[in-house]
Order: sequence, then structure tokens, then C-alpha cells
Amino acid sequence: MKDLVGIKELSKDVIELILNTALSFKDVLKRDIKKVPALRGKTVVNLFFEPSTRTRTSFELAEKRLSTDVLNFSVPTSSVVKGESLFDTVKTIEAYGVDYIVIRHSSSGVPHFIAGNVNASVINAGDGTNEHPTQALLDAFSIIEKKGSLDGLRIAIVGDILHSRVAKSNIYLLSMFGTNIRLIGPSTLIPDMRQYGVEVFYDMDEGLRDVDAIMMLRIQMERQGKGFFPSTQEYFKNWGLNMGRLKIAKRDAIVMHPGPMNRGVEIASDVADCPQSVILDQVTNGIAVRMAVMYLLSGIKDNG
Ligand code: CP
Repeated sequence: MKDLVGIKELSKDVIELILNTALSFKDVLKRDIKKVPALRGKTVVNLFFEPSTRTRTSFELAEKRLSTDVLNFSVPTSSVVKGESLFDTVKTIEAYGVDYIVIRHSSSGVPHFIAGNVNASVINAGDGTNEHPTQALLDAFSIIEKKGSLDGLRIAIVGDILHSRVAKSNIYLLSMFGTNIRLIGPSTLIPDMRQYGVEVFYDMDEGLRDVDAIMMLRIQMERQGKGFFPSTQEYFKNWGLNMGRLKIAKRDAIVMHPGPMNRGVEIASDVADCPQSVILDQVTNGIAVRMAVMYLLSGIKDNG
């Protein structure tokens, strides 16, 4: 395996290997000196064609903690704005001899296309509405950290599942680990994913009953081509997570959100900041998980 383009391409064993490796890196990140020489001499380019705060900064920190040379490609100041194609841009970067290309793009399938055309390891940092594999890996890591395992848990994924690459990657991953997955939201935003054994709830109060974890999703305003729901106020009333609704879940249920949050649209501010929220733990865990992915891709590649 040269690349990480999606959870769909991974086996349960590989996911477990990544999560166990991330656990070791989490220990490294607690030390005074948080850097290891594991990938010294390697070069990585971060190619973000879509905005990002968490994924971009966490990849960059992971890369620096592993001692790689990091090249941050800025799309708005590049020749992309002069019309240079994605293919030519990537081939130009490849000519520098980079070892990794971390890419986010608004079109689904771009990482797969690039992976087939370069020798570097390609890591998908989110492609259109398709997948966001490192987010699902860090989500799984964060759940295991709090609950011990994924097996037998009841996990609710709430909101704009149709447009969410985070939800897709999480559904692919959790379905391999014996997790009971509940999809909650308006019927217009829930695609047919019955093949992954999910249960669907259009009524949020019903869907939240006795769940162990609640993954809230951002309403993706930038991908709402038509009226999927009447208004954000209406959305919050029906599918927003407030303190009253949180009480329907198990007493020790954790609250997750991949970020960025629309406070007051899909999640109330007091829920986002409450003791059951692990949203900032997810951010922290992103570094260890991305270090593990890069480290393992390097090992697999270098061992032939
Ligand atoms: N979770 C996530 O992908 O956040 P960013 O868009 O800020 O990277």
C-alpha cells in the first residue's frame, strides 16, 4: 500500500495497526521534546485546494514532529490561478522528488487520480463529498481512548450525512468494528447506506436513546445547492444537539464534532463546551494519528 486514499481501501487489521501506532506517537507528544527523527530526509508537500484549519495544521505539525521537510503549497498565490491544471501542478511538485503529497480537493476522486500518476505516497486530506480517512481514524482513536473499544458501542452520526466525507469515512470504519451505527437527520440529507448495516432515524430524540457517542456534523452551507431544510432555525429545532437532547443519550455519552462547528445551528454552545465534549481531544489526537499514517506508509514503501 503506497497511499491512503480512503477507509474503503483499508482492512480492519491495517486500521488497528494505525491506531496502535498512533498510541505510541501520542506518548511521544507528551514528552518535553516532541520530535522524532523517523522521517528525516523525507519531503512532504501539503496541497490544499479547499480551506482547512484542523487538517492542514495538524498534518504540518505531524510532519514536523517526524522531522520531514515540509512544503506548504499556497493555491491562491500559485500558477493554478493562471489556469495550470491539477495534473501539471502535481507533476511539477513531483519533480522536486517529494515523498508524500497530502491533498484536499473539492472534487471526489482527486487523490485516487493523483495516486495513480505519481510515485510519491498520496494521503487524502478530504475529497469532495467522498472521504476524509484521517478524520475517521482520529475519531476512532478518540472513541477508543474514552470508551476502550468500538465493539458493541451505539454511535449516532447526526446531520448532513449526504455531503459529509467525514460521515462516509466513519461509517466505512465503524461498520468493520461491530459498532451499531445510527444515522439521524432530515430525510433529504441521509443517503442510502443500508449496505453498511446502519439504522436511520428522522426523529432525533428517538435516535439518541441510549447512545454511547454522538458525532455531530457541520451543515455544509457551501455544498447546499437546493433547499434541503427550511431554515437554520428550523434545523436547530429538529436536529440540533442541545442539553435537553444530550440527556436522552447514555449518562456518559461523549459528544464529537469534526469541526468547524456552526454553533447554534447543529450544536448548542453549552453542549460544545460541556464536560462530555471531546471535540478538542479529537483535534489533539489528529497529530498522533497523522504521524502514524505517514510513518507506516514510509515503512511499507521503504520495505518494498
Ligand atoms: N475536520 C476538518 O477537516 O476540519 P478542517 O476543515 O478545519 O480541516
